[in-house]
Amino acid sequence: MAAGLEKKEYDLTPLKESNLPIIWVLGGPGSGKGTQCDKIVKKYGFTHLSTGDLLRNEVQSGSERGQKLNKIMEQGELVPLDAVLGLLTEAMLANVTSSKGFLIDGYPRELEQGLTFEKQIAECSIILNFDVSPATMTNRLLHRAQTSGRVDDNEETIKKRLDTFTKHSKPVIEHFCSKCKKIDAERDPTEIFKDVEACLETLQAAV
Ligand code: AP5
Ligand code: MG
Repeated sequence: MAAGLEKKEYDLTPLKESNLPIIWVLGGPGSGKGTQCDKIVKKYGFTHLSTGDLLRNEVQSGSERGQKLNKIMEQGELVPLDAVLGLLTEAMLANVTSSKGFLIDGYPRELEQGLTFEKQIAECSIILNFDVSPATMTNRLLHRAQTSGRVDDNEETIKKRLDTFTKHSKPVIEHFCSKCKKIDAERDPTEIFKDVEACLETLQAAV
């Protein structure tokens, strides 16, 4: 592995003992994960952690680790597990005492990420899986590209992001199918959120 992306050690006791709900939010690039997470945070007050945002913050910091991550994101590929799980763990630990639960957006993107998370940190409570066609995802991202300034919002990288998603997402959904709620995300955000609410009500009832 490239220097700067190695595994770090953390004391995970506060996370293991917190027993907070953990919601994984999955879906392809531009499926609306961030849009729906904003709505969830407004209504339920969970702590929203987007692995894409955490990675972009690291890039912004100008660190050596950030420079390496940026190159991978520009290629539309997955960053190494230890790097993404390290950033996620740090963010969860920083919020654990005040959090009502974690809304984890964009993780896990491959089966190994999900298995390692549950082994090291805690079990996921529920998975929201936003289902959208590649054509819709591409159109949304090309539209967003006009203003986002993201290094990966361009036609070439969007294609690679879609390929990466297609290659890795199915085993995650299959393995965690009992917790997974598939939501038709081709619709208007308000309509989609009604289904999200219905899924989260079952979670609230269970905790
Ligand atoms: P990340 O930042 O997570 O990007 P992504 O998964 O490609 O998804 P986006 O954030 O672009 O889209 P979104 O689903 O949040 O949709 P949004 O609501 O913004 O990851 C970036 C990169 O980081 C990855 O490619 C990878 O390199 C790396 N990475 C991240 N996590 C990783 C991990 N776990 N492991 C390894 N690498 C990782 O909406 C998109 C647009 O559509 C917006 O303009 C929005 O306004 C619009 N829109 C949203 N909903 C609707 C709707 N219902 N109707 C119409 N328009 C809509
Ligand atoms: Mg997002």
